[in-house]
Amino acid sequence: MFQINENYQKLPGSYLFSTIAKKVAAFTEENPEKDVIRLGIGDVTQPLAPAIIEAMHKAVDEMGSAASFHGYAPDLGYDFLRRAIAENDYRARGCEIAEDEIFVSDGAKSDSANIQEIFGPDNRIAVCDPVYPVYVDSNVMAGRTGTYDKETERWSRVIYMPCTAENGFVPEFPKEEPDLIYLCLPNNPTGTTLTKAQLQAWVDYANRIGAVILYDGAYEAYISEPDVAHSIYECDGAKTCAIELKSFSKNAGFTGVRLGYTVVPKELRCGDVSLRDMWARRHGTKFNGAPYIVQRAGEAVYSEAGKAQLKEQVAYYMKNAAAIKEGLKECGYTVFGGVNAPYIWLKTPNGMTSWEFFDDLLSRANVVGTPGSGFGPSGEGYFRLTAFGSAENTQAALARIRSM
Ligand SMILES: Cc1ncc(COP(=O)(O)O)c(C=O)c1O
Repeated sequence: MFQINENYQKLPGSYLFSTIAKKVAAFTEENPEKDVIRLGIGDVTQPLAPAIIEAMHKAVDEMGSAASFHGYAPDLGYDFLRRAIAENDYRARGCEIAEDEIFVSDGAKSDSANIQEIFGPDNRIAVCDPVYPVYVDSNVMAGRTGTYDKETERWSRVIYMPCTAENGFVPEFPKEEPDLIYLCLPNNPTGTTLTKAQLQAWVDYANRIGAVILYDGAYEAYISEPDVAHSIYECDGAKTCAIELKSFSKNAGFTGVRLGYTVVPKELRCGDVSLRDMWARRHGTKFNGAPYIVQRAGEAVYSEAGKAQLKEQVAYYMKNAAAIKEGLKECGYTVFGGVNAPYIWLKTPNGMTSWEFFDDLLSRANVVGTPGSGFGPSGEGYFRLTAFGSAENTQAALARIRSM
């Protein structure tokens, strides 16, 4: 008789965004005449940039001819894409990352969920609280998180690093010593980030205690302030303690196209064992490559035309972010983020819980956001709005919130 992976039974409730989708579906069924504006899930709305479409069309045509057809992609990804990544995302910023330290994938969600596989079952993970739920849930599935306490909404073996207005959303070194430290900067959901010096302190800490930082840079393209690192490898010593996860979803609108990459430096070792080689083995066994057409689209992100068009696209969303931030401030809300990230993190008014504010906003303004408590216990009393809507919807949502 087969057995199931009992760890899955430990996962509490359904995934945050499924719960939101159900609530919104119930609301629209009861109120079919209401036009709901969705500023909840962090999905982009602008079409793919022309340079990317052009590259995809060309790649599609290549696939239609025997002479230029492409089957399975190379394990690590096509050279042309890894070369462009190494040059533009690293060398241009003074970071020496070799092309064979870059692993092209179908996105940062799967990489951030899968990366824990190369670590031992007893490793203690540390996460910021609130946090992108995938880091914790993937470790629950792997049996690394102990037992769940419904009261505190915490796992017994997870080390939580609260990030709230009180500490300026800067995680403090935990009292207990972690083995794996998840950092997402700029941060989803709080929209805040660390200065380069603050990040350097985390790199020094990880090297000192022998921990690995799993660094999610999915929102790197939204950094606007000069004192913020675009890659953890800008910090001294990061190559011996950090794995970087990147996505094409938010800088280039690839949420539906699917492309990302992970960097595992050769210097990252556990005794004699190279983590880079372990990830190469895992990648080769469990992943059969991002599609050729998509990797050509990714290459176009780094073309001169692509860069210019995507700069405009990011600016479009950041204009929304600034509008939401200023608009909410004018209404008396306390707001964070929105400067180096496309997320606005607000304090719920009048002591409402995050879900109370969700219901209030949905029923009175017909605007959907994301309850902060869905990202962890320290997110209670906060709420996330995204800047990924259209400018028109963003303005309309603001007008409705003003008249609430
Ligand atoms: C912090 C963070 N990491 C990763 C992802 C997923 O990225 P991808 O679309 O590349 O899977 C998201 C998506 O919202 C995210 O917020």
